[in-house]
Amino acid sequence: MLRFFLRSALLSLCLPMFDSSINAQVAFPNSETLYRPILHFTPQKGWMNDPNGMFYKDGLYHLFYQHYPNGTTWGPMHWGHATSKNLIQWQHHPIALYPDSIGLIFSGSAVVDYNNTSGLGVDGKAPIVAIFTQHDMKGEQAGKVDFQNQSIAYSNDEGLSWKMYKANPVLTNPGIKDFRDPKVIWHAPSKKWIMALAVKNKVSIYTSSNLIHWEKASDFGMQLGNHDGVWECPDLFPVKYKSKTIWVLTVSINPGGPNKGSATQYFIGNFDGKNFSTPSKETKWIDYGADNYASVTWSNTGNNIISMGWMSNWLYAQQVPTENWRSAATIARKLDIQEVNGSLYLRSLPIANLPFNKAEKLSKYFNHDNDAQLIFPCKLNIDAMPLEDFAIALSNTIGEKLIFGYEAKTNRFYVDRTLSGKTNFHTDFAARHYAPRIANNKRINLQVILDKASIELFADNGLTVMTDIFFPSAPYTAITVDSKNNQLFDKASLNNYLTP
Ligand code: FRU
Repeated sequence: MLRFFLRSALLSLCLPMFDSSINAQVAFPNSETLYRPILHFTPQKGWMNDPNGMFYKDGLYHLFYQHYPNGTTWGPMHWGHATSKNLIQWQHHPIALYPDSIGLIFSGSAVVDYNNTSGLGVDGKAPIVAIFTQHDMKGEQAGKVDFQNQSIAYSNDEGLSWKMYKANPVLTNPGIKDFRDPKVIWHAPSKKWIMALAVKNKVSIYTSSNLIHWEKASDFGMQLGNHDGVWECPDLFPVKYKSKTIWVLTVSINPGGPNKGSATQYFIGNFDGKNFSTPSKETKWIDYGADNYASVTWSNTGNNIISMGWMSNWLYAQQVPTENWRSAATIARKLDIQEVNGSLYLRSLPIANLPFNKAEKLSKYFNHDNDAQLIFPCKLNIDAMPLEDFAIALSNTIGEKLIFGYEAKTNRFYVDRTLSGKTNFHTDFAARHYAPRIANNKRINLQVILDKASIELFADNGLTVMTDIFFPSAPYTAITVDSKNNQLFDKASLNNYLTP
């Protein structure tokens, strides 16, 4: 909790922070033009961290998010709100949830309560119920331990406006400092709502028949996975795999990520309505890059599992060189499962309907003599065989470059942002990040989504994923390839973005 305390202490020193001295000290002109992404969600102004309360209904994806509207660093948390028909173009809505006397509005989820189990529906219409942590900052500062409790709010107009439930909190703290980030799903076999809650170094499972009264069912993970930091933002969901139902539990951890700071690990196993169990002892990460945190899935999307994460890292999120806003969300990703060498892995790929034009073949460019011209955002596809080292560089005219590629000797992918542009806002930012290749087939396939300030690399149909942000001083305009023995890729193409 020291982290929250420090964040709030800093905040009280600098209030009012928006458009204030903090921003003046680090004036980075043109950050709107240089870094405001086109394909990725950002708040209009102010601070954003975790995606929250995502639900889908009647053709509309709702996204809520941890938001401090009055400053560009973490502050008293609200739930911002936006909706989208295609998960690319977003409409901003008024703030959905404001802090109240119980506390700030921390991370959580939302469900469509079709059977009105909560009794909060009106006129026979299903209410949308949001379940979230309320963080009592005064309690924390006074040295209490029970300052995080779970509350609910409900909407009777399809998620546009929200009312706090009159008898909050609905799940009170048993005396554990880290007790937060409820993710709720409907479990049809047991006819119960299931809540996965991050409780210090484990995920606790609670069940309820009405979203109001919760009973503890089990704990998971004390002896499993990575424990270098506190567990946050869990998610529990079923995935269909070869006509079987496989259960996946994801949990974010900070610090302890494979490339420092924040990251999200996952476990594949079984869930019986009360207990989640896994045969696997290996720590697996949904994304090996430095910038995909607190990733959770949309509710009410049937067998389509769609996730989104916060595209930053607590290490430096509050120092990145954007002026009017801080942070973007990752591209929405479709999740599924693949078996490799007898072990099951979670794959993530960008959602299928990304609006790109027809591919331009890159063979004429990737010949070690010519550069291809880059216009952001774009998507690069590569099919490589045989497996030799290759490096692809995005560069601008002042010598800044972002390099990514594959290292055959260690069988790893990497993204290197050491020379990518502005990096000195944090000592850990300029770095080369590695990810193991999980697939064992001969041919490498890469899908790379590039926006103005981010790279998302999906290797081998999403078995290995890396997401990294970067901040060039001028836009990258060229893309070049360097490969062992000057081997060319079998296939390479660059797709430019088309406004949908
Ligand atoms: C994760 C997190 C959550 C918490 C929220 C507060 O990034 O620390 O555990 O609910 O952010 O903003």
